[in-house]
Amino acid sequence: MTSATSKNFLRELNAKKVYHPMAHPNDLEAHPPRIISRGEGVHLFDDDGRKVVDSCAGLWNVNLGYSNQPVKDAIARQLADLPYSSAFKGTTNEKLIELSDVVVGMLDEENMRRVFFTSGGSDSVETALRLARQFWKMSGHVDRTKFLSLKRGYHGTHFGGASVNGNMTFRRAYEPLLPGCFHVAVPFDYRNVFNEADPAKLADLCLAALEDEIAFQGPDTIAAFIAEPVLGAGGVIVPPESYWPKLRALLDRHGILLISDEVITGFGRTGNWFGARGWGVKPDMMCLAKAITTGYFPMGAVAINDRIEAAFKSNNDAMGTISHGYTYSGHPVGCAAALACLAETKRLDIPSNAAKEGAYLLSRFKTLMETQESIGNVRGKGLMMAIEFVADRKTKQPAGKNFMSELGDRIYEAGALVRIVGHSILMSPPLILTRNDSDEIADAVEAGLSQTRLSPAN
Ligand SMILES: Cc1ncc(COP(=O)(O)O)c(C=O)c1O
Repeated sequence: MTSATSKNFLRELNAKKVYHPMAHPNDLEAHPPRIISRGEGVHLFDDDGRKVVDSCAGLWNVNLGYSNQPVKDAIARQLADLPYSSAFKGTTNEKLIELSDVVVGMLDEENMRRVFFTSGGSDSVETALRLARQFWKMSGHVDRTKFLSLKRGYHGTHFGGASVNGNMTFRRAYEPLLPGCFHVAVPFDYRNVFNEADPAKLADLCLAALEDEIAFQGPDTIAAFIAEPVLGAGGVIVPPESYWPKLRALLDRHGILLISDEVITGFGRTGNWFGARGWGVKPDMMCLAKAITTGYFPMGAVAINDRIEAAFKSNNDAMGTISHGYTYSGHPVGCAAALACLAETKRLDIPSNAAKEGAYLLSRFKTLMETQESIGNVRGKGLMMAIEFVADRKTKQPAGKNFMSELGDRIYEAGALVRIVGHSILMSPPLILTRNDSDEIADAVEAGLSQTRLSPAN
């Protein structure tokens, strides 16, 4: 806990000399962000000493909570032994080698054969997009350069990732983006242009639109399709059961690579070890980050399957050199953290707990919906879920900005930090959640909603 003087000093400075990600600087000066001082288990403590459940797990990443001692010890040991080592041609480190074996081993079912380490999710997406183009160039298909992705998808903020992002918010101020990126309809049964609520029919309509786009572009010009197995930042959109298997079959018919962006869904969040595995689908590449180090160190990875590995193996010229990488690719402290995190994730059988507590929380929110007219839709898979608020259930007119902001404050005061995105609250708590913690979250949402004075239209 900070002393009163330093607390006032920090509050005075708060958001004055820094630009925060994903916010307007003037908004933050007017409404400064909460200062978080400490984390313990699944709880956070702010500089007033208020204790809340972190229903966001940081940013979908602190899956093991804030107090995992084996991970902290592994980081401390590695800092003492070797705080940095380059992985560029010529040197490597012990933890990197061990971790490559662990990650590839965990993805044997998907025929993953190699892993490329990065510093985070955006780096992983960038890496996968670049390797997809390189794969086709090595294979002699030089025209296969385009990317397809879903509207409402989120793939980070590098120029490549922003170009395949399906949300204007992350694009408009930074345009023009990468040419050759095209977006297709997302199978979201609550809101879609087909006005189709039946999940199986919606999946078919979206796939027909995708096939039409592929024909229009020319299949032999498309390098890869990238998507999240369950969309996260776009509002926790769970595709219909049939979507991913049929998507894989469709892409195979046209030779297009499938990149599964598992930055959120990797390592248990959906209740399966990996999102694509939950749909019974084997992608060509998988983007990983977040839970690989459960937020304790910035780190990411891309897993690469046998098809792509074979192309590198049979290449003998400069086109097969991976002229891509980051100073912190394979950082020994990150790799040590990841080894400990993945061991803990296995030991605690984290995916099963995510499935169990996710189903319970979802049922509590569905019950809440029965009495709260302002809730238009409740959805989720495992421990990623959304409650969408509306001013009118029939027209689905979104709830207003002031309502959402007051709701967020009231829920916080009632004991849970949730993330407000548009007119939804998104929740992605740590995956070590107990039944008591789940109840704490649901009780806080219920209490916060009952104390929100504004009408949803405001
Ligand atoms: C699916 C997905 N891809 C990529 C990213 C970008 O990751 P990072 O913020 O670590 O760069 C995110 C971040 O939330 C994400 O959810």
